[in-house]
This record gives sequence, structure tokens and C-alpha cells, in this order.
Amino acid sequence: MNIAILGAGTIARKMAQAINGMDSAKLYAVASRSLDKAKAFAAEFGIPHAYGSYEDMASDPNVELVYIATPHSHHFEHMKLVLEHDKPVLCEKPFTVNAKQAREIMELAKQRKLLVAEAMWTRYLPMRSMLDDILKSKTIGDVQSLTANLGYEMTQKVRLTEPALAGGALLDVGVYTVNFALMVLGDAIKRIDSSVLLTKTGVDAQSSTTLVYDKVLAMLNSSMMANTDRRGMIYGPKGYIEVQNINNPEYIRVFDPVHKLLKELKQPQQINGFEYQVQACIDAIETGKTECPQHPHAAILAVMDIMDELRRQWNLRYPFE
Ligand SMILES: NC(=O)c1ccc[n+]([C@@H]2O[C@H](COP(=O)([O-])OP(=O)(O)OC[C@H]3O[C@@H](n4cnc5c(N)ncnc54)[C@H](OP(=O)(O)O)[C@@H]3O)[C@@H](O)[C@H]2O)c1
Repeated sequence: MNIAILGAGTIARKMAQAINGMDSAKLYAVASRSLDKAKAFAAEFGIPHAYGSYEDMASDPNVELVYIATPHSHHFEHMKLVLEHDKPVLCEKPFTVNAKQAREIMELAKQRKLLVAEAMWTRYLPMRSMLDDILKSKTIGDVQSLTANLGYEMTQKVRLTEPALAGGALLDVGVYTVNFALMVLGDAIKRIDSSVLLTKTGVDAQSSTTLVYDKVLAMLNSSMMANTDRRGMIYGPKGYIEVQNINNPEYIRVFDPVHKLLKELKQPQQINGFEYQVQACIDAIETGKTECPQHPHAAILAVMDIMDELRRQWNLRYPFE
């Protein structure tokens, strides 16, 4: 399948490496706002077509799937552009800035019968179904609570501090903790409690969130101020599960109530982990689906609704909202 990259920034490079390692996908084009930048990126990754405009790339009839790797603030605009040129989309996380934008994009994709998917790569990784199997086995009994954290020191990145680019830790890394909780516990949340500290620019520097379910609690932390251990812990009456690292699990360990290691599962060999979401999109397109079963639209919306509620509690609105 011919894949094009829209936006030749940092994460686009990781995607280019993944696609270049796949047999089922071909890196066909790259588009940047600067033709020189697109040409340099194309030369580095052996991409045959370089475009100096996103629209020109989207108009190329040979493009079969577009991967969008622009700042959060621009996902809505760029997904719309690509869908209106009748191309399926895999868009970087967060899918959009808010749930209203997400619903509009999903409706457009549905009308045009095109795939639109979020590159929340942890949903597509083999470690996700390995964790599902452990939970189904009830080795630790019924889950009672979980914790998850994700933080990196990212204060120098303009994309993270700038309100106009939808900065803040929640949309960038907190989104992984929310996805982790929902993959384990589902979305039947009764209440959301949270605390936040803002940056001087007014976006969330770090936050602590509790998702309150009927009988279960999920405690989540995200930060752009500190490097955290990236762990997800799942607790039950008969033991607990450690997921190291929720951003691309390296191993999953299962412990009994007296902290004895019962089982350890290691990450299967991967190109860099991005290949699974690309393959899921290829499979979905080839079977006429408009969403990926690994990460359906309802799941994307559930996460967007939670992030909207958190920003409502924090009184954090972006200038373009
Ligand atoms: N899945 C993951 O592990 C992961 C990791 C990091 C980031 N991400 C996501 O990927 C997206 C991009 O992050 P990144 O770190 O790659 O960002 P980045 O290095 O700043 O690159 C973003 C690219 O978007 C394009 N762009 C279009 N309009 C822009 C504007 N107004 N301002 C700045 N750039 C603009 C630029 O490409 P051109 O100049 O070529 O047009 C730029 O190079 C974010 O949504 C982020 O959440 C995902």
C-alpha cells in the first residue's frame, strides 16, 4: 500500500523507519510546508515523491493512506483536508484537540466511506492482547484499582508549552494513561477527580487524575516537568500486574499476593512498534472498514470526552476553541 507522510517533523522520522521495514507498506510520498525539507526527508528515507504542499500530496491519486504527524492543534484541519481528497487517514495522537472536532471528523469519514484511525500505537501492540489474556485468566482476581504514569521533561519544546499549538502534558502524554485505564477497565466511569499545576503559559504542566468507576479506581499522572518510570500497575485480591512501560510495554510481570513473580512476558521483536498500527490500517482498508477494530471510534471518543472534562475542571481552553 502506498503511504504518504504529512508533516516532516520528529515523529514522522520514526514512522518512516517503521514503514521502510514493512513488506506490506511502501513509503510513497512525503509532504512538508517546505519543498526543500520534503526533498531532504525523501532523500534520507528513499521516498520517491516529495511535495512542498500538503494539498498537492493529498491530490496525488496514487496515495492510498496518509499518516498525519503535525501538532495536535492541526490534526482536525489536516484530517479534513485529506478526507476531502478521498484518502484514508492514520492521524497522530491525540486524535483531535476536543471531542467536538473528533465527532465532526468521524462523521466526514463515515459519509465518504473512508478509514480514519488514531495512531495511539499502544492499542495495536501485541503486548495489549497479552495483557488482555492475563486479565481474562483472573490470575490476580477481579481488578480493584490501577495506577499509571507518563512524564518526560519537555519544557523546552514549543509544541508542548504553546497554547496555540494545544500544548500541555495531558494531550501529549496523559492521553496514554487514559488509554491504558480504558483498555483495562472500559469507559463506564462514574466520576472524574483531578488536580493540576499550570505552566506560565497556561497549559497543564502536571496533573493527577482519578477515574472513579462503580467499584474500581484508576489513578493517573502525567507530566511535562519530570521523567517518570512510565509504569502501569493493576491490582487485584490475588496479586498484581506490572506493565513496564505503558508507552510501549517492554515486559509484563504478574505477582502473587506475597510478591512472588508468577509470570513474565517480554515484548516480541518489533521494527519500532509503529508497524502494528500501519498494518491494522492496511487490513481495515483492504476489508472495507472505516475504523480499526483495535481502536474503534467509540474508544477514541471516550478518551476525548475524558480529556475535555479534565480541561473543563482546569478551566483550560485553547485560544482557537
Ligand atoms: N506516537 C508517538 O509516540 C508520538 C511521539 C511524539 C509525538 N507524537 C505526536 O505527533 C505529532 C507531532 O509531534 P512531533 O514531536 O513530531 O512534532 P514536530 O517535531 O514539531 O513536527 C510537527 C511537524 O508538523 C508540521 N507542522 C504543520 N503546521 C505546523 C505548525 N503550525 N507549527 C509547527 N509544525 C507544523 C511541521 O512539518 P513541515 O514543516 O514538514 O510541514 C512539523 O515539522 C503530535 O501530535 C504528537 O502528539 C506522537
